[in-house]
Amino acid sequence: MILVTGGTGLVGGHLLYRLISDQKRVKAIYRNKRKLENTKNIFSCYSDDSEILFNKIEWIEADLLDIPTLTKAFIDIKTVYHAAAFVSFEPDKYQLLRKTNIEGTANIVNLCIANNIEKLCYVSSIATLGSTLNNAPISEDTNWNPEDDNSVYAITKYGAEMEVWRGTQEGVDAVVVNPGVILGAGIWRYGTGSLFKKVHKGLKYYTSGTVGLIAVEDVVNIMIALVHSQIKNERFVLVTENWSYKDFLEAVAESVSVKPPKKLASKRLLRMAWKLDWLKHKLTGKRRQLTKHIAKSLITETHYSSKKIKIALNYKFTAIGKAISSIGTSYLK
Ligand SMILES: NC(=O)c1ccc[n+]([C@@H]2O[C@H](COP(=O)([O-])OP(=O)(O)OC[C@H]3O[C@@H](n4cnc5c(N)ncnc54)[C@H](OP(=O)(O)O)[C@@H]3O)[C@@H](O)[C@H]2O)c1
Repeated sequence: MILVTGGTGLVGGHLLYRLISDQKRVKAIYRNKRKLENTKNIFSCYSDDSEILFNKIEWIEADLLDIPTLTKAFIDIKTVYHAAAFVSFEPDKYQLLRKTNIEGTANIVNLCIANNIEKLCYVSSIATLGSTLNNAPISEDTNWNPEDDNSVYAITKYGAEMEVWRGTQEGVDAVVVNPGVILGAGIWRYGTGSLFKKVHKGLKYYTSGTVGLIAVEDVVNIMIALVHSQIKNERFVLVTENWSYKDFLEAVAESVSVKPPKKLASKRLLRMAWKLDWLKHKLTGKRRQLTKHIAKSLITETHYSSKKIKIALNYKFTAIGKAISSIGTSYLK
């Protein structure tokens, strides 16, 4: 049987749909019944029978940090897909990020060891890779530099990856995927889904940087293919195409039939915007939308190479233009 963590999130929800459609026996953990709506929404993007398929999942209420309930979730499990994480760039969430991402992953790895799990697939991020000089492509070999100005999210995803590598030394066969920004339908309240909402409402500004994009269906297909392959104890960068934010936002605007953002946000404007966002957070307690690190990434040009996975699996990615257009159609529905 298969265990999925993060099944109420974007990646885990799409992964559950694929596994259940493939007639697999799957358990998934959840923390809050309300969040199961995310998974139902994702399922409904694929199929009219979504309710029937959704009901085939065996849901177990468990938190990554609650070892007794996690231990129960591991009963009968042979394969684990660990997609749960706290995704936040807010510096004052650092302790919770560390707990969820590093300690939570250590718990999963320890239970994999204790239960002789055949294969663990961990969803890391391109955030755990280092940077290159002269805009050379970033790959699996571009090592993390602890001296860089790394975001709190990156630090904790890197720590989580280290827990997985530790597990491989203690006997667990694992594969790690490092996706770029993942595009997928079904969750519109946050993440890339919320970008479709923002653009639809009339986003005015674009930024000068680039972004490495991949469709969620490709992330999921690759995770499953890696688990079924002989490959173990390796990581793979998953970026289909590197796009400028301008082109990306134009394509999103076209997909939801609105005008694209016309004005370039200057570095100065972005600096002011993240500082104002910080002030709003301090005054109202609302979650940060724009942090210093997000602002920096919006104006940075980085290029990622997925050559390794293309060769390893002979995999053909979905073109990003096509993925954006199909997500836009789902959004408008
Ligand atoms: N989305 C991207 O663009 C992207 C890019 C690169 C890498 N990634 C990585 O891909 C993975 C999945 O991302 P996503 O976009 O699907 O994230 P997401 O939509 O925010 O979902 C996160 C999932 O983790 C669960 N979770 C968080 N804390 C937990 C805890 N303490 N115990 C149990 N479950 C917990 C959430 O459960 P609740 O619903 O209960 O909160 C949710 O199911 C993450 O590891 C992320 O770092 C994402």
